[in-house]
Amino acid sequence: MSEQNLTSVLKEERVFAPPPPFSLQAGIGSMEQYQALCDEAKQDPEAFWARQAGELLDWIQPWDTVLDWEAPFAKWFEGGKLNLSANCLDRHLANWRRNKAALIWEGEPGDSRTLTYQQLHYEVCRFTNVLKKLGVVKGDRVAIYMPMIPELAIAMLACARMGAVHNIVFGGFSAESLRDRIDDAQAKMVVTADGGWRRGQIVPLKDMVDQAIDGLNCVQQVVMVKRTGQQVAFHPGRDHWWHDIIDCVDANAVPEPLDSEHPLFILYTSGTTGKPKGVVHSTAGYLLGATYSSKLVFDLKDTDTYWCTADIGWITGHSYVVYGLLSNGATTLMYEGAPNYPEADRFWKIIDKHRVSIFYTAPTAIRAFIKWGEKWPLRHDLSSLRLLGTVGEPINPEAWIWYHSVIGKNRCPIVDTWWQTETGAMMIAPLPGATPLKPGTATLPLPGIFPEVVDREGKPVGANEGGYLVITHPWPSMLRTVYGDPERYVQNYWTRYPGLYFTGDGARRDADGYFWIMGRVDDVLNVSGHRLGTMEVESALVSHEAVAEAAVVGKPDEIRGESVVAFVTLESSYTASEELKDTLRQHVVKEIGAIARPEDLIFTDALPKTRSGKIMRRLLRDIAAGKQATGDTSTLEDASILDKLRDA
Ligand code: PRX
Repeated sequence: MSEQNLTSVLKEERVFAPPPPFSLQAGIGSMEQYQALCDEAKQDPEAFWARQAGELLDWIQPWDTVLDWEAPFAKWFEGGKLNLSANCLDRHLANWRRNKAALIWEGEPGDSRTLTYQQLHYEVCRFTNVLKKLGVVKGDRVAIYMPMIPELAIAMLACARMGAVHNIVFGGFSAESLRDRIDDAQAKMVVTADGGWRRGQIVPLKDMVDQAIDGLNCVQQVVMVKRTGQQVAFHPGRDHWWHDIIDCVDANAVPEPLDSEHPLFILYTSGTTGKPKGVVHSTAGYLLGATYSSKLVFDLKDTDTYWCTADIGWITGHSYVVYGLLSNGATTLMYEGAPNYPEADRFWKIIDKHRVSIFYTAPTAIRAFIKWGEKWPLRHDLSSLRLLGTVGEPINPEAWIWYHSVIGKNRCPIVDTWWQTETGAMMIAPLPGATPLKPGTATLPLPGIFPEVVDREGKPVGANEGGYLVITHPWPSMLRTVYGDPERYVQNYWTRYPGLYFTGDGARRDADGYFWIMGRVDDVLNVSGHRLGTMEVESALVSHEAVAEAAVVGKPDEIRGESVVAFVTLESSYTASEELKDTLRQHVVKEIGAIARPEDLIFTDALPKTRSGKIMRRLLRDIAAGKQATGDTSTLEDASILDKLRDA
């Protein structure tokens, strides 16, 4: 979105009050209760978070200081010691939850497994001992590149148990992307599988790992789960089958007492530069954010069967498939495959079969469901649902209404949750028993979170005025740094408005104080709810010998939100052809992954630039969207380029 578009035009007047039966049973059942929490937090944020940390988490040793804030570097609960896996597992073994389902898993081919808290604990302890046996020590990085199978959750909890730092890479990323992430984190081990199932096809994960780590010295061991059973290369001494090595260890693994600020994981995400950033999260603060928000926003009950459709390779899966749910003692469902395999009703079938009560998905998925048609959900009994959620991008009001009526039968509140990889946990979201909903807004901040909409100078703007979304106070689950690059952390998030965290999003606040997110204001795209830096795709394109220069912009897409459009100038020895277009598209898929594949690729003799050489993306965005390029073109170096591009 260009900075000039910050005047929001969306006018949505419909308001949906929480259904009284929902409010009656909810943890927070009224706006008065919500307001009381907000007031408590506002009066003394540190005391508020200390109370939450004491009530929600189990500590091995209490903290000395709640917050040490040397802006922009925060330390929360210093002096305290705890173990995240003990909070997610061990503490539930002492009561009736021991035999409660922690994880219900369904594979794409239809196989399924259920692990109780006791069983999950057993597996996690054993895998902790595998990590130790293979030489992983506290603080080492372990890369995880896996399908959505229980071993993925087991591996991450085992890392947390011994203090190894996990670095999960989404299984849709290419070998090149995986290599960059393993290399940047200097991972000592990779945990993977032979393959995973996606729309009936095998995703060859182990082959990708072999390519990715070829010649990388840091990786000493690879552990792989046998999932799909196809032939894979096996490097003796380096590679181990999960099922073999796990039989060589026992299940005694005492949870390591870890400092509150011990790094829990690194997760790479796109920014405005060509190289993804390794967002670093801490142990105590992150876990507190994930636990607190899950409890409040999902209004969790012990009787719930909760399902978040995100892949664990994204932050949503970290916080809301695994950590926030298990720490609350909930039952979390995990599904391996595609929503339309074998048919377009797979999700509804799963909800029906497992009697799912809370369903959390992305607007892009909802738009696909709408396209596939109502007949698919109507075939199934969805009466077990009591709460719906969305995340990843603004939800268009029409999709919201469809979700509310066709899936929720006008009975289930929808929690539209705004947050980011960097925030670790939800920041702006309704509390379903309290907050009146308006389709298209994530509504109000969680108690203890202080967002604001500011102008270019950092001053708060008035109601309904567009501006930049910032967070004015540190919060426990905030990222701590960019791995190996604290400068970049400061530069990216804290320089634009000193003392304020800059989210990169545009927003407006309406007269009721509701936040309406208007999308990114930087060079970051949101494709199917996933972040993609335009620079990242441009770097991938120019790494091909045929490409002289490339500019990438987003264009509105009915299902995905945005799609990738690339403008490419060629080296003089190459001529434009459909074949070359395909080659370049494939090249991007190889460099980054299928998510970055340019939908449109346009060859051009030159790119529109300012006299100082800056590419004028605003104009390219208009051209990509088929609009007349509007606004100021006076700084354009060569105005004739625009006409040529329009005709291209
Ligand atoms: O632009 C916002 C959008 O997704 C960005 C964060 O992307 P990522 O770190 O990949 O995390 C996605 C899952 C938390 C934000 O800066 N975004 C996320 N949720 C919403 C949203 N935009 C509007 N409404 C949301 N509910």
